[in-house]
Amino acid sequence: MKKSFNVVVLISGNGSNLQAIIDAVKAKELDINLCLVLSNKADAFGLQRAAKAKIPTKVIEHSQYSTRLDFDLEMMKAIDEYKPDLVVLAGFMRILSKEFVQHYDNRMINIHPSLLPKYKGTNTHQRVLDSGDKEHGLSIHYVTNELDSGPILKQVKITVNSDDTAESLAKRLLIEEHKAYPEVIKQLCYKDKYCLK
Ligand code: GAR
Repeated sequence: MKKSFNVVVLISGNGSNLQAIIDAVKAKELDINLCLVLSNKADAFGLQRAAKAKIPTKVIEHSQYSTRLDFDLEMMKAIDEYKPDLVVLAGFMRILSKEFVQHYDNRMINIHPSLLPKYKGTNTHQRVLDSGDKEHGLSIHYVTNELDSGPILKQVKITVNSDDTAESLAKRLLIEEHKAYPEVIKQLCYKDKYCLK
């Protein structure tokens, strides 16, 4: 059995999904080594969450790089220092180069607030309301070169109520995200430890 399952988390903002993962580790529900939280924004609140949990943090601001690939190569350098078994995108709002995606092929996952393949991209809650959908949800998937695509690991549905707003949907969905993401990471960690891949 391997000693530890190294996880690097990439964020851009609030980091509530990161917090759910930190909490699951603290509660010993998740036996992983959270080795780095990397943000492309210096003011991402998730960096404070990571620091409070004593997880190393790093900021690499995309605005400092002239090309997407230069930025991605810098991130790869920082991430690979920790030899990650899994890279977790948790509200990381940058499109990744094909080189980056290829480098972490089969070991990078993303959480997206829609029932993919519906509503790739941003503003998903409002688009669900505008389409009059009766259900909404989240998807957790492996990252591939096509935006918000890749093999689905888990989806969770919620009902859209007649009085829902984009804000109320986002709030209710986040509660489900916080349960689902640690669960999926746990499954992947378990598979890795017991060589069931
Ligand atoms: C989450 O709702 C996540 O699903 C979404 O950003 C939010 C991040 O919240 N991700 C995407 O839209 C990726 N395409 P958080 O920073 O509080 O975890």
